[in-house]
Amino acid sequence: MLSSFFGSGSSEKCSGRASTHTGKCDATQKKNSPSTPSPNSSNLRLVRGFSPPASSSIPSSTNLILSENKNVQHSSASSSSSLPVSSRLSSKQQHQHHPQAHTSKSFNMSSAQEIDGAAHRVSLSASPTSNFSTSPFAARYQNAGQSSKHLKPFNTEDVRILLLENVNQTAVDILKKQGYQVEFHKASLPEEELIEKIRDVHAIGIRSKTRLSANVLKEAKNLIVIGCFCIGTNQVDLDYAAKHGITVFNSPYANSRSVAELVIGEIIMLARQLGDRSNEMHKGTWNKVSARCWEIRGKTLGIVGYGHIGSQLSVLAEAMGMNVIYYDVVPIMALGTAKQLPTLKDVLNQADFVTLHVPELPETKNMIGKEQLDQMKKGAYLINASRGTVVDISALIAASREGRIAGAALDVYPSEPAANGDYFNSTLNIWGDDLRTLKNLILTPHIGGSTEEAQSAIGIEVGEALVRYINEGNTVGAVNMPEVSLRSLTSEEDNHARVIFIHSNRPGVLRQVNEILGDHNVDKQMSDSRGDVAYLMADISDCSPKDIKVLYESLESLSARVLTRILY
Ligand SMILES: NC(=O)c1ccc[n+]([C@@H]2O[C@H](COP(=O)([O-])OP(=O)(O)OC[C@H]3O[C@@H](n4cnc5c(N)ncnc54)[C@H](O)[C@@H]3O)[C@@H](O)[C@H]2O)c1
Repeated sequence: MLSSFFGSGSSEKCSGRASTHTGKCDATQKKNSPSTPSPNSSNLRLVRGFSPPASSSIPSSTNLILSENKNVQHSSASSSSSLPVSSRLSSKQQHQHHPQAHTSKSFNMSSAQEIDGAAHRVSLSASPTSNFSTSPFAARYQNAGQSSKHLKPFNTEDVRILLLENVNQTAVDILKKQGYQVEFHKASLPEEELIEKIRDVHAIGIRSKTRLSANVLKEAKNLIVIGCFCIGTNQVDLDYAAKHGITVFNSPYANSRSVAELVIGEIIMLARQLGDRSNEMHKGTWNKVSARCWEIRGKTLGIVGYGHIGSQLSVLAEAMGMNVIYYDVVPIMALGTAKQLPTLKDVLNQADFVTLHVPELPETKNMIGKEQLDQMKKGAYLINASRGTVVDISALIAASREGRIAGAALDVYPSEPAANGDYFNSTLNIWGDDLRTLKNLILTPHIGGSTEEAQSAIGIEVGEALVRYINEGNTVGAVNMPEVSLRSLTSEEDNHARVIFIHSNRPGVLRQVNEILGDHNVDKQMSDSRGDVAYLMADISDCSPKDIKVLYESLESLSARVLTRILY
């Protein structure tokens, strides 16, 4: 079932501007002649630039080829393709063999490994002792009733992955199960060391402390994918990455439940003044009071932003006996007996507790200021675990001192320290000292999503995204590439190849690509664009190794090409 494949790094040969990129499409085109018999071993070649093999005869190996436009170097990989597999295993070795190894590296692998279904299991623990649930993606890429073909015609141990910042063990397990070489570091790396290491890897996993600037990424000649094992992606130059064919994934919602649970805890803490009582006890003061301490049952919770977190919270709050009202800029179906109200003011007027779950946008900056605090019921509570800029803190301090607000909980701040330590002071935010003097105020250091379960879920989500991208080319969930996915090929589809073509989004390219693909039988095809970059996937049947070579070389010759991969 294995086919073979060569690649030529020739580039910049032709261009065309006849038609615009037309977005998503499906195409079924003419059938080709039956494929040539398959060779008996398979290889992965992850190459940013290489020359064609000396002969066009079909080798007894299968290759996956990646090539990036600007880095094409034509001399080294052809010689590497004639090296024994063992001599081509590491890119370090490539460096030694070839002076241009930064721009031309290859990885050859001798046998395919099956994707281990167990790696696709999600362990979202409901309790510290029980695990359940399967990956939402486990079924998505399967064909019902058929075993899917694994588009991984390579020795996975030559895929090199660098994991920094103590990425969760769930991710390490998923990536190791694929057979990839995983280098794990607990901390981030100084830029010099990072640059040294990033040159050799195909994927990197980071959290928030590692800056992947253009300066760093320009050295990452083999890198095809970045996994941000966190919510934010500000630490990565997304635009530079996209334009160089590097896809970035993150995990924006894996911690929604953790935030919702924190907010439930804070509602009860505020209603019972638990923060103050606890602080007093820590100082040796016994202060048993019940005045202005409440049950939350029967109280009204006003949720601003009924998205992933807001809606989770809605369910939990109703289970606690609260009435839920919410405001969102879009109409969203209410869960349980919650009610969407037409304006923010309506929610502020009626809620005993107001909790904010909106994104950081120009429209949400200071969306709770003096005017809105005045619109809240006297003695109501405010909770912000969204973004620090959403609340005008000076106005909140004033409202609290005047007794209009009975308490507040803040998890996020306009300026937050970059590291743990004694940094939450007036130097960071001018109102810092004033804020700390307020009664019934819970301050937490942006820990809403910081739980073991969330970290585990993030590890699984991003780990699986990396595997899907490396093995199948799916970009669902990518933050800097168009989201493109094709259903898995089945094991019956023996001589199929999956073409992945990342290119500049400019007029005429899709026509050129389709002219190339038009000589083959395209079973399915999907393309989409995002800004300056477009991503195309096409599954081609009856594809001989020679066809793959021709396809690859033709795509490589397009001047709009950023990265070409062919999986089979
Ligand atoms: N504290 C933490 O540790 C932590 C963890 C995760 C997320 N967050 C933050 O929580 C917030 C919500 O996250 P999410 O995952 O629920 O996001 P989401 O995108 O799922 O939901 C946001 C909701 O807000 C609505 N919205 C947008 N603008 C609005 C406006 N002006 N008025 C009212 N509604 C508006 C959207 O329509 C959407 O329904 C984000 O700011 C996120 O960064 C914080």
